[in-house]
Amino acid sequence: MSIAWSPETREWHLHNGRTSWVLGVLPNGWIGLYHAGAPLAVGPSYAHLGPRDFSGFDNRVGEPVALALPVPGLGDFRVPALVVEAADGSQVVEPKYVAHRVLAGKPALPGLLPATYAEDDTEADTLEIDLADEPTGLEVTLAFTIFRDRPIVARSMRLHNGGAASVVIRTAMSASLDLPDDDWNLVTFSGAWARERFPADRPLVPGRQGVGSLRGGSGNEHNPSLVLRRPATTEAVGECWGLVLAWSGNFLAEAEVGHFGTTRVRIGLHPEQFAWPLEPGASFATPEALLAWSGDGLSALSDALHALLGRRMARGPWRDRPRPILLNNWEGTYFAFDHDRIVAMARAARDVGTELFVLDDGWFGVRDSDDRSLGDWVVDRRKLPHGLGGLAREVQALGLRFGLWIEPEMVNPDSDLFRAHPEWAIGVPGRRRTESRQQLVLDFANPAVVDHIAAAIGDVIASAPIDYIKWDWNRFITEPFSPTLPPERQGEFFYRYTLGMYDLYQRLTTRFPDILFESCASGGARFDAGILAWAPQAWTSDDTDAVERLRIQWGTSFAYPVSSMGAHVSAVPNHQTGRVAPLDFRAAVAMFGAFGYELDPTSMGEADLAAVRRQVAFYRERRELFQYGRFTRLRSPFEGDGNETAWMVSSADASRAVVAHYRVLQRPWPHRDRLVVRGLGPDARYAVTCWTSFDGPMPTVERGGDELMRVGLGIEPPDPMPAGRDAGADGHRFVRGDFSFRLFDLRRVS
Ligand code: DGJ
Repeated sequence: MSIAWSPETREWHLHNGRTSWVLGVLPNGWIGLYHAGAPLAVGPSYAHLGPRDFSGFDNRVGEPVALALPVPGLGDFRVPALVVEAADGSQVVEPKYVAHRVLAGKPALPGLLPATYAEDDTEADTLEIDLADEPTGLEVTLAFTIFRDRPIVARSMRLHNGGAASVVIRTAMSASLDLPDDDWNLVTFSGAWARERFPADRPLVPGRQGVGSLRGGSGNEHNPSLVLRRPATTEAVGECWGLVLAWSGNFLAEAEVGHFGTTRVRIGLHPEQFAWPLEPGASFATPEALLAWSGDGLSALSDALHALLGRRMARGPWRDRPRPILLNNWEGTYFAFDHDRIVAMARAARDVGTELFVLDDGWFGVRDSDDRSLGDWVVDRRKLPHGLGGLAREVQALGLRFGLWIEPEMVNPDSDLFRAHPEWAIGVPGRRRTESRQQLVLDFANPAVVDHIAAAIGDVIASAPIDYIKWDWNRFITEPFSPTLPPERQGEFFYRYTLGMYDLYQRLTTRFPDILFESCASGGARFDAGILAWAPQAWTSDDTDAVERLRIQWGTSFAYPVSSMGAHVSAVPNHQTGRVAPLDFRAAVAMFGAFGYELDPTSMGEADLAAVRRQVAFYRERRELFQYGRFTRLRSPFEGDGNETAWMVSSADASRAVVAHYRVLQRPWPHRDRLVVRGLGPDARYAVTCWTSFDGPMPTVERGGDELMRVGLGIEPPDPMPAGRDAGADGHRFVRGDFSFRLFDLRRVS
């Protein structure tokens, strides 16, 4: 058991040698957080790290109290984790310790809340602390799960109204973390459509700072995750925290520095536009938050999150399977395709070695542009006279898998579904409904809508041998309202919408367990830990420009594993930026993801097709390493002038690795440069082969792990130096040209 309870000191110690959390019952019955973070020895009391002489409210008079469940109105003026309005309208509740349980394993969260899991009871231990507020009868259960081999604690909260009168939940955060000082930088992952999850890194300042979403989805703009790092922490050394919320709806992730220089971090459902009436006897549960700690820098923090999210949030047969190399027709055809064109593309896709053909938007209704037919999930026989079944079988006969795009939560006003059920589109009666991309969002807070779409989409999937589904979501929610909820329950709308969406995922993944689902929302607007419970991979961004992707994939990698990041090579000039980067450079970036192509292979010349064949072969040979290896960030595209990026993947046993170095623009007469890599065996010898294009490698050399990790890999000049080193700009030579890369293949030889 990795949870110790001391009845004498009334302390719990969650420990696994990698992290420690020490909580205690304070004299007034509140739950104090004495320590969280670095691993501590089990046995001693750590109560001295908590408040001294605690007798109620100390915050005002000198000692900031670190609490597991801060509430408002009792003197702690920092942001609360729980706000409940009693029947009399007051917002003062005081949940006090009642009991606790230590459970082997990890109980599932109620209903459809996505959560990490333990495959057997030895993988995790869970502490549940029951609290109660006597006047209202409100009962609170705080859950803390510590995983056996991971520096991560999962947190969530359940509320139950054990009183006689209704209360209203106004704020219910999944986790609140009090840290004893403010010497941290806050990193959030922010951006916009086509430039998602750029790390925004700033020192904490007094007051509140953070990010959130009120869009009805996690969004392109901010990710439901954050990192705190010590100012001196780097990728390789130093202390840091990573907080990730397993939720795909509105969220808040913020830090507050109090007037004593303490830091409170909270993450959970966004309290704005949220209110949840709790009748006597009713219960409510928050989503799960994951709190990871590292004393060894940011890459180690990410590594822990990758392993947990990739293997214990993701589930189903595709969790561990090699993900197929796909070719998607979207940027190749947009809406202009028919059966023959798709089959021709699929044949060309097969010929270059890709494994899965994905038919994107435009196959249903009368969908020749984005202004109609969403909601009418009937195949368009004008384009596909043999139906989806006919097409899928023909594609599969080529030796490919067949995948299909859907956008089940949406409806165009110009659709039969909308004409039959205008009340199913989200909107406030009597008010204009804001359209975005000429579409409206279906009211997934209404179970009848989910039933209808589950049947309609289920029929489509059942009608053809489909191997993969790309689930899109191309606008955010406006005029939030569901006619199925009474006025006093409209504050439940966003939560219920998200659960309705999860419900559809649950039904479809249960009915079609072998299908690989990929989440997509205008690219990366629903790239969060919650969705991984059904879709083990997500379309990282609509931006397929390789230079932009360096930054997008770098930022995404803080929380999310490579196996979850859809990354494709697309045509040039790039459709999002107009940039023309070489084909091999585009591939060398996309390989650090669930790899694929997003172009029309029938329009490519023989030389490019041959290059793609080589790329596919290169990736296939290293697929496990790319998708499931340990990902380590080495050189940030957000540092300096952003011209260089480096990262690597390595196998768990350090026998293999691929190290990538990218340079966007070449500068003349470059400085000497070595790239210090990580995660190898210091005593091992490695065969090092450098690829600067997929045409073929440079001669293999042998280097020691110690040299590679302490002195570095030769980048400039390259190791080994090619013959005729100063001549030419073909990427093999000293003069690299723009958009160059070096992929170093490392294999342990002794
Ligand atoms: C947005 C997605 O991100 C694209 O990949 C594509 O599927 C379009 N939607 C289709 O409408």
